[in-house]
Amino acid sequence: MNAYFPPIDPLKLEAAWKAADTLAKSCGGSSPLSPRPSEPDGESPLTIDAAGLRVDFARQQIPPHAQSALHALAEAAALANWRDAMLRGETVNASEGRAALHTALRDPNGELTDDLPESVRHTVRQTLARMRTISDQVRSGVWRGASGRPISDVFHLGIGGSQLGPELACDALHRFSHPRLRNHFLGNIDPDRWHRVSRDLNPHTTLIIIASKSWRTPETARNAQAARQWLIDAGIAEGLLGRHLVAVSSNLEAAQSLGVLPENILACPDWVGGRYSLWGAVGLPIMMQVGPEAFDAMLAGARSMDSHFARAPVSGNAPMQLALTSAWNAARLGSGTEAVIPYSDALRRLPAHLQQLQMESNGKSVDTRGEPLSRATMPVVWGEPGTDSQHSFFQALHQGVAIHPIDLIMVGGVSDTDPWLRSRVLNANAVAQAQALSNGYEHADPQRRHPGGRPVTIIHLPQLNPATLGALIALYEHKTVCLGWLWGVNPFDQWGVELGKRLAVNVEALMTASTDQVAPPEAVAELTLDPATESTLRYLKSL
Ligand code: F6P
Repeated sequence: MNAYFPPIDPLKLEAAWKAADTLAKSCGGSSPLSPRPSEPDGESPLTIDAAGLRVDFARQQIPPHAQSALHALAEAAALANWRDAMLRGETVNASEGRAALHTALRDPNGELTDDLPESVRHTVRQTLARMRTISDQVRSGVWRGASGRPISDVFHLGIGGSQLGPELACDALHRFSHPRLRNHFLGNIDPDRWHRVSRDLNPHTTLIIIASKSWRTPETARNAQAARQWLIDAGIAEGLLGRHLVAVSSNLEAAQSLGVLPENILACPDWVGGRYSLWGAVGLPIMMQVGPEAFDAMLAGARSMDSHFARAPVSGNAPMQLALTSAWNAARLGSGTEAVIPYSDALRRLPAHLQQLQMESNGKSVDTRGEPLSRATMPVVWGEPGTDSQHSFFQALHQGVAIHPIDLIMVGGVSDTDPWLRSRVLNANAVAQAQALSNGYEHADPQRRHPGGRPVTIIHLPQLNPATLGALIALYEHKTVCLGWLWGVNPFDQWGVELGKRLAVNVEALMTASTDQVAPPEAVAELTLDPATESTLRYLKSL
């Protein structure tokens, strides 16, 4: 299939970027701009309601006249063309020759678009049906371990996109959990982590999900071997291992050789990248925890955001406006970071998921055609929940010289069923912080003065439930790809990470070679050791 490239005029795009850059620089970074008008002016949205969420841009530092420059940028970067091509399954991931159809995973019945081939829908529906069968068996207690006991713990092994999305969703939806089932996630290859997680588990009532699209990721492949041995050491016969193992992988052979039964291997299509994959088989622990109906509700919430993304004009398009806002802040402030602060403990893992989603997608320095980029791309995404973070790094957010744009995520309003009204206080804190960060605080003593001018977007969920969670994650997925397209990068590949996976294998081979040998064996010729690496290896081998 030919790679898709929209009709972009590079000169026009560069001119649009220059215009936005010049405006951004002329606004200065160090002092707050005049407050936004309280009424929308047609071009600069104050709030956008999308898929049940409210995205509030009123504390952003974008003057109304800059909006038309940003819209011209969206036009010149062909955001709408890229979006439409992605949704209809064109090969938008040029460097890997693939489509990017995570939206198809949440559209089994073609409600969003009927442009896709029936084979795609069939794969999606079939996978969902198989996930449902396994989940129903585990949740109802029909699925029994080797010693005849029902499953109490689901232990998910996977890393990166095969961990962060499902972990976020399971955490976020803990109130919807099946009463018997507990979830555990293991990504890191560090045995310390393995011991901490496995220590409290009974192998006889544990179901292990091994999620690795490729099965070539060393962390997951090794942890899977450790898990198999853990089951065997607990007295589970090799012939019965299948009662404790499920795999999510395209590498059927590797999964079967570990002892997973063919009917319990769920394939991953190559048209969905790891960090966009929680909506399909990788989301199996979510479905097990919350049940198929709630999982469907999560897909429906995401689909509703997809539909907003597909149809809303740029000025009212929440993901596009988030992307344009990021581009503006990067150009104006040059701080190189963006904070995400969920005022919701259940969304504790959101920053980690968004970090991978955005930084693995857009941390690139060449464009889709391999040409070097002329501007900085991906800011560092980071964050911790409020209010904890208020007692930590918020000092720097309020009074530091560098200005870091902030997304505050809020859930609910002022009514609270907690006897100590803690949810209300939580939200009061979020609103107070947003006000202080953006407006500042005048004081005669400079030590106590808050300069303000910190750009804040509030993303508001009326409740945290499967549908709003789905919409929130999809919102950020679309923001991510739009930002990538604005910069001209391919948001769907991750060659920077792939190299590390291969090199670690080579370095390990050198670690086990004879004490003095630091030159790479022939099989690992790709690895040229620099003197610093040689010396580190010699030192490690001397210990
Ligand atoms: O970290 C790089 C990466 O390729 C991610 O994109 C992916 O989500 C993760 O590794 C895990 O890959 P796999 O599912 O193939 O084990």
